[in-house]
Amino acid sequence: MTTNKFNDGFGNKAEAFEEADNAVLSPKTARTFGDIVNRRYGRRDVLRGALGVTAVTALFGTTALTAATQARAATPAFAFPELESGNDTRHHIAEGYDADVLIRWGDPIFPDVGPFDPQAQSADDQLKRFGYNNDYVGFVPLAEDGSHGLLCVNHEYTNEEVMFPGIGRQDKKDFADMTRELVDIEMAAHGGSVFEIARGADGKWSVVLDSPYNRRITALETEMIVDGPAAGHDRMKTAADPDGTRVIGTLNNCAGGITPWGTYLMAEENFHGYFWTDTLDADGKPVLDRADAESLKRYGAPGRWYNWGQHHERFNIDVEPNEVNRFGWIVEVDPMDPASTPVKHTALGRFRHEGSESIVNADGRVVVYTGDDARFDYVYKFVSAGTVSDDRAANMKLLSEGTLYVGRFNEDGSLDWLPLVHGAGPLTAENGFESQADVLIDARLAADALGATPMDRPEDVQPGPDGKVYMMLTNNTRRKEGQEDAANPRADNAFGHIVEMIAPDGDHAATTYAWNILVKCGDPAVAEVGAQWGPETSEHGWFASPDNCAIDADGRLWISTDQGSNWAKTGKSDGLYALETEGALRGSSKLFFRCPVGGELCGPYFTPDQTTLFLAVQHPGTDGTKNFAGFERNSTFEDPATRWPDFQDGMPPRPSVVVVTKQGGGRIAV
Ligand code: FEO
Ligand code: CA
Ligand code: CA
Repeated sequence: MTTNKFNDGFGNKAEAFEEADNAVLSPKTARTFGDIVNRRYGRRDVLRGALGVTAVTALFGTTALTAATQARAATPAFAFPELESGNDTRHHIAEGYDADVLIRWGDPIFPDVGPFDPQAQSADDQLKRFGYNNDYVGFVPLAEDGSHGLLCVNHEYTNEEVMFPGIGRQDKKDFADMTRELVDIEMAAHGGSVFEIARGADGKWSVVLDSPYNRRITALETEMIVDGPAAGHDRMKTAADPDGTRVIGTLNNCAGGITPWGTYLMAEENFHGYFWTDTLDADGKPVLDRADAESLKRYGAPGRWYNWGQHHERFNIDVEPNEVNRFGWIVEVDPMDPASTPVKHTALGRFRHEGSESIVNADGRVVVYTGDDARFDYVYKFVSAGTVSDDRAANMKLLSEGTLYVGRFNEDGSLDWLPLVHGAGPLTAENGFESQADVLIDARLAADALGATPMDRPEDVQPGPDGKVYMMLTNNTRRKEGQEDAANPRADNAFGHIVEMIAPDGDHAATTYAWNILVKCGDPAVAEVGAQWGPETSEHGWFASPDNCAIDADGRLWISTDQGSNWAKTGKSDGLYALETEGALRGSSKLFFRCPVGGELCGPYFTPDQTTLFLAVQHPGTDGTKNFAGFERNSTFEDPATRWPDFQDGMPPRPSVVVVTKQGGGRIAV
């Protein structure tokens, strides 16, 4: 019997994933900035956030802080009554708002598809229904009055133990029950959904089942084009695709983005977990006897989280060595054309992309920010070569050519963006990079060579107003004392922090920014945690493990959290928090929405008129249910901690998109 590396103490697949995200694959940093920072600025200043202002002023003068920013008064930006934190089987929203379920895993997105029956699942049926584990949510308006639009939703992964009857967690059982049919259902439940929604006279949104825009994008059967510098490279060629330019499917689509020209970006995150090998050592670890073993190890592939490779040979690296190189990219989808072929843009590099949020720079170039979500991995930005125009087809080529940079956070409060360009610096043939394709396929190795700063798990990276860019660093308990640096200042960082990056004069193409810590998460009442919050943060308002975020139409920052099973350390379910970024209240946080037990919160996304907020409740009823008072066991299909949102016997918990509106209408939190 083989031993799976994740056959461990985790109660369910989501918990195991979280731990696997945490596996340290990055070379350890020998640098220790903590004492340098202490000497130069004093630890107290760093803790209070004063470093940022000092550093910004020193680097760029006061022009980096606009007059509007400095003038903002100490009045709360968010007008809503704070929700009480806690954890139970239901979702909760601040008083005065409705939070209605819009669509659930298994709901039809095409006409003439019957109600969902979890006992009668098939791959063909799943292809017509909303997929599993909704993560990113984007909205593309179709009408100027805001009454219609396309929702673009990622389906990151599947949890077989609560998805399929009678099988439990399969990675603990060598996938004994994971038949070809169940694997194909999983593959059909991955990917994304694009569908039209409409707002009725009552202000409530519903899915337009007969819309011509509706489509499913899956790991099972959606063909994709590869473009950019790695397209057609030998390492991208497979038996099924000798040209190295066409791939079937996308997977582990975590967060993403809507581009300024209205396309939908899907970030491929933990791709390594889908690849298989039968060549294992006595400890059950893959034996990698091949020329690119260093590359595989740096990405943690093959992870064997799923047994797709037992039924689809392309996911078995023993049979198809290069399929693994064709995942881990940013995918662009045109939601306006349901027959369009999605494009994997290799110019944005290959790693565990959390998201891909973009902004048009003042010079017209588009800049995409994207984090590599693993402990001690890096944050990147891509700057296009061309500029945005009125030609939508031309805009859809902008992510095909440009420069990828990785971040180095200096102790003086500056941030250098280091280009991943073949031939520059260490990125040469002598160091194993034969071409730009090698640099991009092995972006992690290239970034290692450049000396990027290892971060505490970069999740969403979101450009905001005034040249500010917010980076969620979710946690890193493997950072030891002595490994702290200025931008990752806590050892054993269980609760995460948020770094604010500041483009000089709002120039997102600049190669030197300033940076600053916005908040350090965790309970401010526990001194050892070392949390840092603004003055108006209540016992309900502090949070842990920032993951996704959004900027609303007023330029305000909203954060959603994913604590994994760590919610037991905070006693709070995951939720959505409104976070002040300016003025005397900077760093003050307030709870707006919270998840049912065991769920993480994804989305969030506001309509441009700010009257609607979309949230994605992912894997309800799974994480940390052993610590859920009164339940205290791991959830299964038959015995879940919650049957949210249906609460019907026989219906398992269902990942769902929730729509938040103000009772009586109006803009949210105004
Ligand atoms: Fe899929 Fe990093 O969360
Ligand atoms: Ca995430
Ligand atoms: Ca996450």
